[in-house]
Amino acid sequence: MIRAEKICKSYGDLNVLDNLDLHVKSGQFCIITGPSGTGKSTLLNVLSGLDTFDAGRLYLMDKEIKNISHKEMSLLRRKHMGFIFQSYNLISSKNSMENVALPLKYNRVKYFHRRSAAINALEKMGLGDKLYHYPHQLSGGQQQRVAVARALVTRPRILFCDEPTGNLDKESAEMVMKGILSLRDGGSAIVMITHDNSLLKYADCNYMLKDGRLQ
Ligand SMILES: Nc1ncnc2c1ncn2[C@@H]1O[C@H](COP(=O)(O)OP(=O)(O)O)[C@@H](O)[C@H]1O
Ligand SMILES: [Mg+2]
Repeated sequence: MIRAEKICKSYGDLNVLDNLDLHVKSGQFCIITGPSGTGKSTLLNVLSGLDTFDAGRLYLMDKEIKNISHKEMSLLRRKHMGFIFQSYNLISSKNSMENVALPLKYNRVKYFHRRSAAINALEKMGLGDKLYHYPHQLSGGQQQRVAVARALVTRPRILFCDEPTGNLDKESAEMVMKGILSLRDGGSAIVMITHDNSLLKYADCNYMLKDGRLQ
């Protein structure tokens, strides 16, 4: 599902990724750890096609990313990929239900279906009583769970997450992990960055990003 070969990326003199290899298959959950500033977010942006790289090859769902058009990439992202970012990136003028339903709207799912799917995803995140709250009416942890519901609602084949449990208490973190693991069990490939070593037990593979490579 995700295959990166000898990926290099630098910012000026700073080599952030240096001949990095990664292979994540369908149904695999891969955790990446490493100290702050080592390039974890950069790696996720490169792997998800959001950022460019200087050398190497990247394949997502058997398509080489270099050779596909902007339009094809957008379609791949919209149809098959999910993202949970460190910052939640919710739309402030939309309530929880509308934020979560939005990716389904882009995929032309009918109003009734996207509404019930969004409600279901929010209920799984323990937010059944916050469906009509706007982001500013929610705590940081609640906003994070709305963002998780939004990433999971399309059941993406590939999911990228950057510290998805960073702001959460134990109970909320468990809801998030349950959602992510159910996606994995359905055959999706997951790459997650975390500082929380207690989550390593869920991983099929785990690497530390060091000196621009995964070790
Ligand atoms: N757009 C950018 N321009 C220049 N340097 C950057 C940029 N983005 C990140 N960096 C640098 O690249 C390194 C890796 O950053 P990042 O991927 O955010 O690390 P992490 O997520 O592991 O904390 C840091 O030293 C950071 O300052
Ligand atoms: Mg980061």
